[in-house]
Amino acid sequence: MEGVTNAAVREVLASYGPIGLVCTEFVRIAGEKISKPYLQRQVDRLPDVPLSVQVMGNDPELMAQAGRVVAEAGADVVDLNLGCPTANAARKGVGAALLKEPERLARLLGTMRGSVPGLLSAKLRAGFDTSDDALRNARLVEDAGLDYLAVHPRRRVDHYRGVADWRIIALVKRELRIPVIGNGDVWYASSALDMFEQTGCDAVMIGRPALRNPWIFRQLAELRAGREPYAPSGLDIAAHLRRLAEALVAREPGPGYSAIGPLKEQLNYLCRAVSDSAQLHRELLRKQSVADLLEAADETFGVLPEHRLDMSATPRPWASNASGVGVAPRALER
Ligand SMILES: Cc1cc2nc3c(=O)[nH]c(=O)nc-3n(C[C@H](O)[C@H](O)[C@H](O)COP(=O)(O)O)c2cc1C
Repeated sequence: MEGVTNAAVREVLASYGPIGLVCTEFVRIAGEKISKPYLQRQVDRLPDVPLSVQVMGNDPELMAQAGRVVAEAGADVVDLNLGCPTANAARKGVGAALLKEPERLARLLGTMRGSVPGLLSAKLRAGFDTSDDALRNARLVEDAGLDYLAVHPRRRVDHYRGVADWRIIALVKRELRIPVIGNGDVWYASSALDMFEQTGCDAVMIGRPALRNPWIFRQLAELRAGREPYAPSGLDIAAHLRRLAEALVAREPGPGYSAIGPLKEQLNYLCRAVSDSAQLHRELLRKQSVADLLEAADETFGVLPEHRLDMSATPRPWASNASGVGVAPRALER
């Protein structure tokens, strides 16, 4: 996820695993020609977890070249972004904008398939301003010979608002032969089991909820094994921030680098797992240095009473909607 899941963050999250595959932020492919060294740098693999490198663009030749470079540099999967909802992406005709241009999309998919050795996937939204063509677009992906498809069932116009419509994942799964990965609103480990059951999808992809509760993968594995899922504490959050700081600094040793910005980004997600966190969040965001932030995090998260944390594997009653279905305790729009 752009701006929030760089290699350092992926490394720390995967250490709480198990995670089957991690994905890079999108790599924008634009201009006259690709930069091979830049693309090769994006293939920052963890020793034990396969890596999917996502590219975003709409020029078939450039995208095909870029896909080949990252595949040859060791990416386990090359993924095509068909979901980015930003105004800039829409203006440039990339990301979700390609969903309303089936011919262009088919050309792009076919050219990439012809050039990328190894696994090639796509991740699409339900559509641009309508979901009506979700299946048509999913079929374009399959017909071009891609290996699997991830579906985030919101339209571009929704951005991150509202609820992901899992029925669209179920529809795509029913109709396609290639594996389908479901994505969107898996806020609790138990929601992943619900998604498997309700959609029949082959795998689940977790984005924001993993930043909010980095232990969600472990909890899911425990739930599936019939074991008691781990219950993270405030101390875990404080220790997590410390590990993130170390990993960020270790991977970005350039002069003048500070991990403070990326740490605050992570804090924005972590604080969403804490009820009534507005004041605490504001105070932490005021810290100017990593050391001050970590010290304050130790003091504040370390003493959080259990009832203020919403990181259990199943939704608490106060985090559920009227039908008992787990929902984000607070709207997460980005
Ligand atoms: C800050 C942010 C950055 C994102 N960047 C990407 C990206 O680079 N590529 C992509 O395919 N999706 C990206 N997404 C979308 C997520 O991968 C995911 O599809 C969406 O958040 C819904 O899933 P979730 O409920 O598990 O987060 C991003 C989302 C957010 C909030």
